[in-house]
Amino acid sequence: MENWTRIDQQVKLWLQEAGNKIVTSFKTSPEIMYKTNPDDLVTNIDQETEQFFTDKIREAFPGHHILGEEGFGDPLTDLEGIVWIIDPIDGTTNFVHQQRNFMISIGIYEDGSPRLGYVYDVVFKELYYAKAGEGAYWNDMKLPPLKEVPLEQALIGINSTWLTSNRLLEPKDTLVPLVNDVRGTRSYGSAALEFVFVATGRLDAYITMRLSPWDFAGGKIIVEEVGGKVTNVKGEPLHLLGKNSILVARPGLHEKIIQDYLSKGMN
Ligand code: IPD
Ligand code: CA
Ligand code: CA
Ligand code: CA
Repeated sequence: MENWTRIDQQVKLWLQEAGNKIVTSFKTSPEIMYKTNPDDLVTNIDQETEQFFTDKIREAFPGHHILGEEGFGDPLTDLEGIVWIIDPIDGTTNFVHQQRNFMISIGIYEDGSPRLGYVYDVVFKELYYAKAGEGAYWNDMKLPPLKEVPLEQALIGINSTWLTSNRLLEPKDTLVPLVNDVRGTRSYGSAALEFVFVATGRLDAYITMRLSPWDFAGGKIIVEEVGGKVTNVKGEPLHLLGKNSILVARPGLHEKIIQDYLSKGMN
């Protein structure tokens, strides 16, 4: 039997330690590199943070597996056993440009089932976390279950990029009418932050056409603990080993967004 309480306590200490290192790194300029193109950044701090977690996990929990964005984890082909899915800095562009609005995200799964989820705002020292089946927290505060809200009163997270043509949806039949009908839209540049903003009710939904597992692995566990719905834009379950489109929303709103908007123009 895994000792989830021990793992939880350990993760929280590592998050603090890694967060302090990142904040200290602000004293010097990070080394900025391009991954696939000049909009796709990575820094030595992303890499060092992922290495920090992989070293710690391998030492403390040698039987566990790791899937990390920056490649310090294991080459996984399945979700058997205990898998840590890590994004050392979610919102690298914000990290580089703003020195804020970026998160460390960790989701821990056992045979593909959610166990522990963490999204840590290292600058503001705010921790969002959940133990599957035991609720979700923002620091010490237990988050209440999400209630329904009418679409006209909803504030949704969406990046304006998706209002231009894309492979999945015809924006003029789907996202443009949705953006017109909701109360407002926001874009924060960190998927993990947008997930936990849905969990705390600061956003009512978040939509994006493409995320990798490390972007949502932690946030998904947290949102689901408060009754939020997390699927792709067709309403199907997410795959934890590949890219997915994403619709995260309060109950009720999730179904309405798919039925009245997204399903009107799938490519
Ligand atoms: C990115 C952020 C961003 C999302 C991108 C992600 P990264 O993660 O979550 O908000 O729109 O799709 O790749 O690269 O900063 O960890
Ligand atoms: Ca990245
Ligand atoms: Ca990310
Ligand atoms: Ca990242």
